[in-house]
Amino acid sequence: MTTTALMNQQFRLAARPVGMPKRSDWEEITEAVREIGDGEIVVKVLYLSLDPAMRGWMNEGKSYIRPVAIGETMRAAGVGVVVASQSDKFAVGDTVSGATGVQQYWAGAADDKHANFYKIFPAMAPLTTWLNTLGMPGMTGYFGLIESGQPKAGETVVVSGAAGAVGMTVGQVAKQLGCRVVGIAGGKEKCDFVVNELGFDACIDYKNSAVKDGLKEHCPNGVDVYFDNVGGDILDTVLTRINLRARIVICGAISQYNNTTPVKGPANYLSLLVNRARMEGIVVFDYADRYHQGVAAMAKWMQEGTFKSREDVVDGLDNFPEALLMLFEGKNFGKLVLKVADA
Ligand SMILES: NC(=O)c1ccc[n+]([C@@H]2O[C@H](COP(=O)([O-])OP(=O)(O)OC[C@H]3O[C@@H](n4cnc5c(N)ncnc54)[C@H](OP(=O)(O)O)[C@@H]3O)[C@@H](O)[C@H]2O)c1
Repeated sequence: MTTTALMNQQFRLAARPVGMPKRSDWEEITEAVREIGDGEIVVKVLYLSLDPAMRGWMNEGKSYIRPVAIGETMRAAGVGVVVASQSDKFAVGDTVSGATGVQQYWAGAADDKHANFYKIFPAMAPLTTWLNTLGMPGMTGYFGLIESGQPKAGETVVVSGAAGAVGMTVGQVAKQLGCRVVGIAGGKEKCDFVVNELGFDACIDYKNSAVKDGLKEHCPNGVDVYFDNVGGDILDTVLTRINLRARIVICGAISQYNNTTPVKGPANYLSLLVNRARMEGIVVFDYADRYHQGVAAMAKWMQEGTFKSREDVVDGLDNFPEALLMLFEGKNFGKLVLKVADA
């Protein structure tokens, strides 16, 4: 295949955003896909994962991963199909997952360590599920809860962002382990979903009720594990209800990502001292060599019908800048995915 006949539309970072990203923070470029050489492949991107972390990657400064440079294609995970190959690792027609970036085609070395492509199996689950439960958010929820939260049967697990990608995994894994699970989410529809569809024991609608009252009502024995996806006031409130030797998993703080003022830390942190509790940050990549275990466990539960994955698909690469904002406005219902092309 002559890859130079393929035109590649992509979004590059044009400016570091202040507050919420704007369309002018991106530059949209279309150029021909380059010729590939020995050991290289071209991947046609089908779906992209839109993640809250992308907002952090747009900032300058030290983090667990280097920032996206100005002028660089925006980093994103994606799934796609190999359309050209000069590598033994992948054949034309293979379906793969990796860091494709926000673009239509990825070209480079099949073993590129940043892209980190691996084969996925569409017969096992829909492609979008490979970006959710069987992908990075699922691994975050699964390993973050089990390794850092260390929940035991009968304990109470509270998770914020409960109807989102990571949150829905955390709550369902905790149910599989025999815990009482209380979600925190924005709005009645999301709360009804996590209780009625995902089997959580209760859900607190933080937009329409006081989290403190909800915790009193739904966690009569206190909170043993809090899996925090949102930070800010919700984290502060949960800290007032934790038990002796509670585990607080700091997974994310989406309420703080677009701040133009300093991040708001928890005023109630002395509750950790009083309760000999532990607060620990996690980064999903630390569990990369065990992802296959998480995939196997959750795929089995899904096949048995005791575990669900929900994705919210926005159609069209052109819509990337606005679609990304949905995460920070709570407009996504399930894992937010951008459809780039048909298979
Ligand atoms: N540490 C890691 O390795 C790792 C890996 C993946 C993700 N994460 C983190 O995990 C968290 C969840 O990510 P995700 O991909 O699963 O996203 P998600 O939950 O699918 O989507 C984001 C959700 O956050 C909620 N939200 C937005 N603004 C909020 C606010 N001000 N206060 C409270 N909730 C707010 C919204 O839900 P509501 O409608 O319910 O408000 C929104 O739908 C993020 O903080 C992300 O950075 C961490």
